[in-house]
Amino acid sequence: MRLRISLVVVSLLLSAAIGFALRRSESESSGGERKLRIGLSLDTLEVERWQHDRDLFTARARELGADVLAISASGDDERQVRDCQGLINDKVDVLVIVAHDGTAMAEAVRRAHEAAIPVIAYDRLILGCDLDLYVTCDNVRVGELQAGYIADRFKGKKARIVRIIGPKSDNNAALFKIGQDHVLQPLIDRGELTIVHEDYDDGWRADVAKRIVTAAITQAGRNIDAVLSPGDFTSGAVVQALSEEGLAGKVLVTGQDADLVACQRIVEGTQAMTIYKPLKLLAIRAADLAVKLGRRQPIVVRDSINNGKIDVPTVLLPVTVVDRESMDRTVIAEGFHTHAEIYGK
Ligand code: GAL
Repeated sequence: MRLRISLVVVSLLLSAAIGFALRRSESESSGGERKLRIGLSLDTLEVERWQHDRDLFTARARELGADVLAISASGDDERQVRDCQGLINDKVDVLVIVAHDGTAMAEAVRRAHEAAIPVIAYDRLILGCDLDLYVTCDNVRVGELQAGYIADRFKGKKARIVRIIGPKSDNNAALFKIGQDHVLQPLIDRGELTIVHEDYDDGWRADVAKRIVTAAITQAGRNIDAVLSPGDFTSGAVVQALSEEGLAGKVLVTGQDADLVACQRIVEGTQAMTIYKPLKLLAIRAADLAVKLGRRQPIVVRDSINNGKIDVPTVLLPVTVVDRESMDRTVIAEGFHTHAEIYGK
């Protein structure tokens, strides 16, 4: 999936440059330099991390002298394409998309390109289109670290686990699963671990995650060692389902995003770990690159990922495991949450 190449120089679309030049001369003729405008189309703001992403991205873009027009589609594909069309009509200089559905949003990329606007996929890849740039964290590594945490804790113990897989529409969910399988498959093959139940949580919905755990307990019994939950948003529902069975704190639960409530659950003991993604760095890199693309300046990145049509120039950021033991030197040391917020004192 990932192809390492030494240096990929993002070649700028000639048509994009011409379009920009036209819009620039329009605005200059009506009086001075026009402020750069970035369109930011978000899948949702319901999950805590996307609020952080939006705020950090907007703050950085402002520092660089750009305006951000941000809009959330509340998990609706048609609405997200419409949101992007609105931003295109508003003549943004560059479009940044957190796709709800990686396939559906290829249409938004096509429309943006028709209007000579370059597009950056933020965190989630957009598939089957001529995407200009992808800025994300190492999502395969996320899955490896989540599964690796379980593998370490149950070494030699024939663990029985339940797995919740994220939505089929989110390419990241497929990448988390690939990473998890790297670790789990050899253990399953050696009979050291069994997945007693697994299911997809379409839409990253808490109620679906809860239903999966309840179904797992009904089918496989209470003898469960861990729930491999893909994100903190689902982990909250997992812990709730477990606590209704008197199993919270007794079953290892994974997570991702270092949401504040998840960090609180970790120090309380009902969730074992989460993955800290450097959201500030991600937002800063994405905003810096959006400004460059918006100004039609060349950019240089080291990686690329194939999206089914092209090798998309990609920025990949590292991720870190956070558990009770490492909370202070990760999330708190980085200023993501304060000690008082997490420990309540
Ligand atoms: C994924 C993202 C995760 C998590 C999840 C639910 O695509 O990489 O960090 O936030 O969506 O929103």
